[in-house]
Amino acid sequence: MMIFDTHAHYDDEQFDTDREELLTSMEENNVGTIVNVSATFDSCARVTKMALKYPFMYAAVGVHPDEVGALDDEKFAKMESLLSEEKVVAVGEIGLDYYWDNESHDLQKEWFIRQLDLARKHDLPVLIHSREAAADTMAIMKEHAQGLGGVIHCYSYSKEMAKEYVKMRFYIGIGGVVTFKNARKVKETVEDIPLTSIVLETDCPYLAPEPYRGKRNNSAYIRYVAEEIAKIKGISCEEVIAQTEENARKMYHL
Ligand code: NI
Repeated sequence: MMIFDTHAHYDDEQFDTDREELLTSMEENNVGTIVNVSATFDSCARVTKMALKYPFMYAAVGVHPDEVGALDDEKFAKMESLLSEEKVVAVGEIGLDYYWDNESHDLQKEWFIRQLDLARKHDLPVLIHSREAAADTMAIMKEHAQGLGGVIHCYSYSKEMAKEYVKMRFYIGIGGVVTFKNARKVKETVEDIPLTSIVLETDCPYLAPEPYRGKRNNSAYIRYVAEEIAKIKGISCEEVIAQTEENARKMYHL
C-alpha cells in the first residue's frame, strides 16, 4: 500500500526550483499516486500537461471560487475540452469562498453550479472547496450534486455536517490541519466519521502538517497526517494509508 495524495498543486511557482527532483523522489517516500488540481483557468492546461509527464500523476480541471471572475463562455468551453484528455479524473477545485470574498457570492454560485453540471455531463467526481460558506455550499450540493461523488476538500465545518456529506456519499478530505493543536473540529470529525469516508490530501504547497507547519508542503509529509488520524482512531498508520488509498481509487475510478 502507498500514500494517495488526492489534492496537490504542483504547478505552483513555489515548486519552480526543485519540482522535478521532488516529484521523482515520491516513490521512495511511499507516495504512490498524486492528483494535481487546478485553481486558476490557466492552471487547467498546466496540470493536464503535467499529468502526462509522470505515470503516478493525474489531473483535476476546474476553477476555484476566488478565480471565477476570469471565466467566460469561451474559457468554459476550453475547460470542457480538457475533460476528455487522458488522465483528467475530476472537476475541481470548485466551490464557494466567503473568507477571501474575491468575487460576489452570486458569481461564485453561478460558476459553482455550472461546473457541477459539467461534472455530471462528463460523469466525473468533483473536488469541493468551501470556506466560511457552509450553508450555501450544502444547499447547492443538495440541489446539484446528488449522486455525483467526490470530496469535500480541506474539510473545516462541523462533524454533524460531515456526516451529512458522508450520507450523500462524499468523501471528507483531511490534510495538514488535523495535526495542528487547535484543530479541535477537524479532529472530532475524524473521530466521528468512518475511515471508509476519509481521503488524504496535502493541498501543497499550502497547509504543511506539524512539524513543518508554515513551511512549504509536499506529498511526502502526508505520513504525518496519516499518523495523526491513526492516533485519533486508535488504529495503525498502515491501516489508514491502505484504506484511504482504496477510498481514493474508488472515488477517482482508478
Ligand atoms: Ni487546493
